[in-house]
This record gives sequence, C-alpha cells and structure tokens, in this order.
Amino acid sequence: MTISDPSEALAAVGIHRAYSGVKALRGVDVTLRRGEVLGLIGPNGAGKSTLVNMLTGYDRPDEGAIMLDGTDITGWPAHRLARTGVARTYQRGHLYRDLSVRENVEVAALATGRSRAEARGDATGLLELFGAADRSEQPARTLPHGLERRLGVARAMATRPNYLLLDEPAAGLNEGEIGEFGEVIRSIAATGVGVLLIDHNIRLIMAVCERIHVIVQGRSYLEGTPDEVRGSQALVEAYLGRSGTQ
Ligand SMILES: Nc1ncnc2c1ncn2[C@@H]1O[C@H](COP(=O)(O)OP(=O)(O)OP(=O)(O)O)[C@@H](O)[C@H]1O
Ligand SMILES: [Mg+2]
Repeated sequence: MTISDPSEALAAVGIHRAYSGVKALRGVDVTLRRGEVLGLIGPNGAGKSTLVNMLTGYDRPDEGAIMLDGTDITGWPAHRLARTGVARTYQRGHLYRDLSVRENVEVAALATGRSRAEARGDATGLLELFGAADRSEQPARTLPHGLERRLGVARAMATRPNYLLLDEPAAGLNEGEIGEFGEVIRSIAATGVGVLLIDHNIRLIMAVCERIHVIVQGRSYLEGTPDEVRGSQALVEAYLGRSGTQ
C-alpha cells in the first residue's frame, strides 16, 4: 500500500439525516483514508447509499460535517467535489445509455477538465482494465448487467479521483468476475486511491477490505478488520436483529 499523510482522508463526522420524519442516518462517523479499501456493510435500508450521497455532495446532512483532507466541505455540491477528487458510482443506472461505452468514459474525463486526447487515452486504459475494451464502440444500453456495473466504475475512475465510493458495484457479477473485480479494486487502492466498497457479498468484502464499517439503522455500529468483524457476535446480531438473538 502506498501511503501517505494520515490527514489525507474523506470523513463523515456525526452525520444525521432525516427524510420527512424517516431517520435515514442518526449518528455516523466514518473515515476513508487514501490507499485503503474500506468496506461498508449493513442490512437493506441501513443508510449506506444515503451516506455515499452525503460524502459525495449529492445531499447534505442535517447535522454533522464532511471533511476532505482536513477541510470542511459540508454542503459542497457534487460537481465541485468531483473536480476535487471525490468520485462515486450509483446503485442503479446513471449511464448514458445511447452513448457508446467509450463515450461514457470520455464524457466523465472531459467533465473534470481533461483534454480530448487525454480523455481518449484514459478511456482506452480504463476499458482495458475493466474488461470492456472489446465492447467500447457499442451503445452502453447493450451491455450485460455485470459489464454495466464495471463501466460505472470506469467512468468514476475517469475523473482521476483520490477517493472512490462504490455502491454495490459487483451486484450481478458471477463468481469468476467477482474475483477479477476484487483484484482491480485492490490495484486501484494500491495507486493511493481510497476506495469505499458497499456490497452485500460478504466474501468479496472480506477478501478485499482492510477495514469494515458496519451501519445498522442509520448508526455506526461496528468497525474492524475482516478478522475482527468475522468473529463478531455483534455482526450476527446486526443482520438478524438484536431482539431475535438467544
Ligand atoms: N431521498 C430520500 N427520501 C426519502 N427517504 C429516503 C431517501 N433516501 C433514503 N431514504 C430512506 O433512508 C433509509 C436508508 O436508505 P438507503 O438507501 O441509504 O439504505 P441502504 O443501506 O443503501 O440499503 P440497500 O442495502 O437496500 O441499498 C431508507 O429507509 C430509505 O427509504
Ligand atoms: Mg443502497
């Protein structure tokens, strides 16, 4: 792992967010450091995607702060954060379906200030890395689900981020593809990018993450290494519900 200054981190501090009375987040503290892969897990509806929205400027917290490399960036809009090195993927969709696979990546590169030549070069490398080079001239809508997810990650990487937040990027991949995808995630982190990985596939999370943060009902619940989290009774309780434990 290449790293670097410990103040280089993207952090959520004491985050609360409610939507018409529904408390989606009610006390989340999490820090993503450059060069690491941090897993974010929790049951459906726990608040994981909401937290990604907070960390990337797609929504703002009611309470708490978002810090980027020591600067308070709470309330910065998404496009400004994208230019400052914070990139994300979405749980669903958000590709330009009628543009080609290559154009999807190039547009993302151009939007963060790359020249045409740079955008083209970056797109070629990223499509190779994500196993989509042979499909690069097809419309994005023709991609099978697994490749669509990988194109989402390639697009995020085209902004040359320091922090990359991936919301269930491996959903729909088969076992072999998941293994390869895990390797790509590790290689991205090794270049100094902090990667936040949300996935319900615990084997993938355990295999690629240095640390795992568990959210339950909008609260930070547990954080540890894969071994610590694997051995944790609290994790079982988090998924099965505390009331159900014997
Ligand atoms: N814009 C919104 N308006 C209303 N409610 C919202 C909004 N965003 C999130 N919520 C609610 O906040 C809670 C957390 O949702 P969120 O999508 O963050 O969960 P999640 O952990 O990503 O779940 P999943 O694993 O199913 O993707 C849910 O109750 C959801 O309905
Ligand atoms: Mg989600």
